[in-house]
Amino acid sequence: MPSSRRDFLQKSTQLAAGLSLATLPTTAQQRLAADAIRIGLIGVNNMGWADLTSMLKNPDAVCVALCDVDSNVLNKRAAELEKKTGKKVTLYNDFRKLIDDKSVDAVIVGTPDHWHCLPAVYACQAGKDVYVEKPLANSIEECDLIVAAAKRYNRIIQVGQWQRSGEHWKAALAYVQSGKIGPVRTVKTWAFMGYGKEFPPKPDVAAPAGVDYDMWLGPAPNRPFNPNRFHGSFRYYWDYAGGLMTDWGAHMIDVALWGMNVAAPRSVVATGGKFGFPDHDGDTPDTMQVVYDYGKFSVLWEQSLGTVRGPYDRDHGVAFIGNLGTVVIDRGKWEVLPEVEQGRYLSPAMPIQKATANDLDAHTRNFLDCIRSRKQPNCPAEVGRNVALHSHLGNIAYRTGHKLVWEAEKGMIVDDTSAQQLAKAHYRSPWTLPKVS
Ligand SMILES: NC(=O)c1ccc[n+]([C@@H]2O[C@H](COP(=O)([O-])OP(=O)(O)OC[C@H]3O[C@@H](n4cnc5c(N)ncnc54)[C@H](O)[C@@H]3O)[C@@H](O)[C@H]2O)c1
Repeated sequence: MPSSRRDFLQKSTQLAAGLSLATLPTTAQQRLAADAIRIGLIGVNNMGWADLTSMLKNPDAVCVALCDVDSNVLNKRAAELEKKTGKKVTLYNDFRKLIDDKSVDAVIVGTPDHWHCLPAVYACQAGKDVYVEKPLANSIEECDLIVAAAKRYNRIIQVGQWQRSGEHWKAALAYVQSGKIGPVRTVKTWAFMGYGKEFPPKPDVAAPAGVDYDMWLGPAPNRPFNPNRFHGSFRYYWDYAGGLMTDWGAHMIDVALWGMNVAAPRSVVATGGKFGFPDHDGDTPDTMQVVYDYGKFSVLWEQSLGTVRGPYDRDHGVAFIGNLGTVVIDRGKWEVLPEVEQGRYLSPAMPIQKATANDLDAHTRNFLDCIRSRKQPNCPAEVGRNVALHSHLGNIAYRTGHKLVWEAEKGMIVDDTSAQQLAKAHYRSPWTLPKVS
């Protein structure tokens, strides 16, 4: 790197982190303070690519490696990257090789949910920091393991719940916490998404040329290739993900936990089914309602695939319902709906507050800053684990039909063997859960 660019980065990052090089603990961190952070992306198709391109808006981040089990997508993204940056990067089909690559400082894990845990933990073990997509992992057991790995190997993990870096979310939650809407008795969270109406079963076929399908399946159960279960729509199958609940629920319920400053419910009940589109090929319900009991208030989750007229006529959002008013937040704005008594508002009226920033860019910037400062990022592994816990408990309550009791001290569902089984990771050989010790 030319010394002028190095000097620029060194000065700007020292200022941003409030650090001097003399205070940095290791040679590696001294290098990081001086040079661009070298990123390797695992899973390049959709969100992983969005995360990378967001990071690359910063002059102190460079991409040095891409990895995907689908060579078609990998080659397409490599060509796009070369066009964008003028540079070729190292390409891998096996993420373990990318993690072994000494020229990579930090990895983005943009693979489907069943492939979050192993890359994230291996990367921590290799001394790399990790930006991992939400939900943190596909089972409660894997989520706990990632949290343990971040601590044990002293790594920065940022989970892709990018609302956590969004200014209008922070402003709305500060309003809730100011007491202006009175004590909050209910937090509603929801996603009503217009997609997923037409999704008929398709026959199993040979995997497309250039796809390492066994590696795509990884720890998930073996089965023939089916296009429905592949890129993007893997979301509708329990083997790889958890439907709308782990997709949008991981974002919206996170805001409820953040606003109420809580981590785990006492108990969970759920109901729902494939009511709207019974012939939809997926496993996950198109309709589901979940209630999380917190003793003094409830958190509600509601999902609906194929319809968009959600609560407050928003297709997604979070509503904090207090005695004096309701604060409603979505990705574009937030507002206060005051309660009315005898013709007067019980909390101050205010105009709708619009979001003005790119929250994903703020979130990836925060990750880069924390790699240098070694401070906790806006969405560390514990925060990702807490909301993934809610998503998985909701899905497990739905799948078993049981009311689940969660014991926070033990970190487990109590007195329910079938639910406990669904909280665990069941890996296909030769993949095993790594030991973090
Ligand atoms: N934060 C957000 O707003 C947001 C938005 C969309 C998706 N996501 C999350 O991002 C993740 C990916 O979703 P998507 O829509 O991008 O999925 P996708 O199917 O479009 O892309 C996943 C990519 O990972 C690749 N892959 C699978 N196994 C791999 C392996 N072992 N090694 C390397 N590559 C592998 C696939 O071939 C594919 O190219 C999911 O966990 C999803 O929940 C987050």
